[in-house]
Amino acid sequence: MSGASPLLVRFDGVAKTLGERRVLEGMSFEIRRGEAYGLLGPNGSGKSTAIRLLAGLLAPDAGQIAFDGHPLGPADVRRLGVCMQDVSLYRELTPVENLEFFARLYGLAAHERRRRVDELVTRFELAPYAGTRVSRLSGGWQQRVHVAVGLVHSPDLLVLDEPTGAVDVQARHALWSQLEALRKAGLSLLLTTHQLDEAERLCTRLGVLRAGRLIAEGSPAELKARLPAQAMAFVATRDADALRERADRLGWPLRTYARGTACLLPQWLSLQEVAQALQGLELDSLAVQPVTLEAAYLDLLEAPMGGARTESAAAIT
Ligand SMILES: Nc1ncnc2c1ncn2[C@@H]1O[C@H](COP(=O)(O)OP(=O)(O)OP(=O)(O)O)[C@@H](O)[C@H]1O
Ligand SMILES: [Mg+2]
Repeated sequence: MSGASPLLVRFDGVAKTLGERRVLEGMSFEIRRGEAYGLLGPNGSGKSTAIRLLAGLLAPDAGQIAFDGHPLGPADVRRLGVCMQDVSLYRELTPVENLEFFARLYGLAAHERRRRVDELVTRFELAPYAGTRVSRLSGGWQQRVHVAVGLVHSPDLLVLDEPTGAVDVQARHALWSQLEALRKAGLSLLLTTHQLDEAERLCTRLGVLRAGRLIAEGSPAELKARLPAQAMAFVATRDADALRERADRLGWPLRTYARGTACLLPQWLSLQEVAQALQGLELDSLAVQPVTLEAAYLDLLEAPMGGARTESAAAIT
């Protein structure tokens, strides 16, 4: 049964120390009903800790966590489907046996159990593997079963900690389609990911966690709008010094990404206009494209910490 609160989750100044380490420093964020909220942040920034707190596996040292308008309590666990970073299934059981086991654990009555297991086997196309031990499934199929198990008790919020970290491209796209369909059917999602294409495809809103604090929040488009650039020009040249000099003269900040070197363009320019501005340089390739979420995210992380506080991206543009 769903409550009436439009806010499903609210972290208010949540702090947590683990061992010697202050992992979360007054973390505040909200997940509204129907949202797909993505928590981004480098390794060790506190994403999984936030999830463990929400799942009730840890208690905050300070601050409050509310679920559906009331303080988070043990009964709320039944309304959360949590898929932790490591796949936690019974490897010697089949997908159907796993689903049945967890359905039983959540106290589903026999007829409801059967209906729900059948529904999930259909939704996640598990039928061909229904009788195969989980240990014999590929990583991608194990992850599918993991997500299906997270949904067995029809939670209000599905929490996924790096759901596609270890799965191949095809399996990732299949899982994205399934998660998208679930969200369109009304399920709320909280996910963490290091893959910005995944965040952009699945999330309606993103929070960027850095050293235990949320440093920015907004839709993918809002976060991209924070980068002081309207477009990016990826330039491949063997003469890096000449490019640096020219970019400097043009007032185009240079950045290096996994894909290569890019100039941040303060306004949208056509390929011809960029080529003209770079005339005289020996170019191997040139591509002009809209700002990527990766570029915006890396800029946020590289900004000086200052008196870091969460800023709504929407309020800045
Ligand atoms: N039980 C513990 N005792 C001490 N330190 C811990 C404990 N559990 C986690 N940590 C530390 O807390 C920090 C945050 O961990 P957390 O797992 O929340 O990060 P994360 O953002 O999920 O990282 P990743 O992207 O690598 O999954 C890490 O530095 C980790 O080593
Ligand atoms: Mg983690």
